[in-house]
Amino acid sequence: MKKIIVTGCNGQLGRAINQLYAGNIDGAVAHSTVSAGEYELVNTDVAELDITDIEAVMKFAREVKPYAIINCAAYTAVDACEEHGDLAYKINAIGARNLAIAASETGAKLMHISTDYVFEGNNRTTPYTEFDEVNPKSMYGATKRAGEDFVKQFADRYFIVRTAWLYGDGKNFAKTMLRLSENHDVISVVNDQVGSPTSASELAKAIQALLPTENYGLFHGTCEGSCSWADFAAEVLRLAGKTTRINPVSTEEYKKMNPNQADRPSYSILDNYMLRLTTDFKFAQWEDAIAEYMQGMQ
Ligand SMILES: NC(=O)c1ccc[n+]([C@@H]2O[C@H](COP(=O)([O-])OP(=O)(O)OC[C@H]3O[C@@H](n4cnc5c(N)ncnc54)[C@H](OP(=O)(O)O)[C@@H]3O)[C@@H](O)[C@H]2O)c1
Repeated sequence: MKKIIVTGCNGQLGRAINQLYAGNIDGAVAHSTVSAGEYELVNTDVAELDITDIEAVMKFAREVKPYAIINCAAYTAVDACEEHGDLAYKINAIGARNLAIAASETGAKLMHISTDYVFEGNNRTTPYTEFDEVNPKSMYGATKRAGEDFVKQFADRYFIVRTAWLYGDGKNFAKTMLRLSENHDVISVVNDQVGSPTSASELAKAIQALLPTENYGLFHGTCEGSCSWADFAAEVLRLAGKTTRINPVSTEEYKKMNPNQADRPSYSILDNYMLRLTTDFKFAQWEDAIAEYMQGMQ
């Protein structure tokens, strides 16, 4: 059995990985070991394996002797990262470093996940490829960039997959819109930030396609197509049959209503260029993926 350590297994991606590999409908159960064909998922979340603790990470990896580590753990609250920069660096950068060192020492492959928020998005009109320069505007983006750098520095055999606007089994934008629609006739949503909503189950499929290969390096992994947050919200509500209206607003207007927002790129559409150049894998169109997700919620 090839053992795969899954960190942050109770998060959106951790659950999607469990669902895909093992049909684990209830999602991951921390510290469970789940058999998945030729693989065994060794599920951990912060209570079992805090990725910020180098000694714990090394001890755990030496015991398990993994074939691969899939790092689904992260500090993903973009606005909260601004206030809790130290914690964000610990989880998103040092945590990634620790796993990279452990993977390298135990001969494991490392699958690390990053974000479209490493890009700045100013005056950009064409999708970013893996060969474009990063320049994050937020603390979250900065900590994720540092995580990427550590992985490149310390892991021998790694995949870094940058994804975006992720939704799955957990807290996410689509669920927030559905919750707000319960008691709002109108919801104000920004319409001048564009990106690609990506379903965690689609991302899990890309991970499953890459992991057995020697096709290492940096990849962009987002659903095809793009939209604004306002478009995405409208599609979620349409699919749910809600009558709540979306009021499209600029980021500037939105920030007046909700101060303490982190800066986000106005344009962060990613081109899955490396996947296209080196694999046959194709992500679903974002509209199809969200329709499938909403169907699964019923
Ligand atoms: N969500 C998005 O929109 C988005 C967009 C682009 C990229 N990404 C990237 O995609 C990946 C997966 O995101 P996601 O949405 O699945 O994340 P998520 O739902 O927030 O899950 C992250 C998991 O990591 C756990 N965790 C936090 N600190 C930890 C620690 N020190 N040690 C071990 N586990 C820890 C969390 O536990 P607690 O809940 O208890 O803290 C949670 O279970 C991340 O790398 C993220 O940066 C996400």
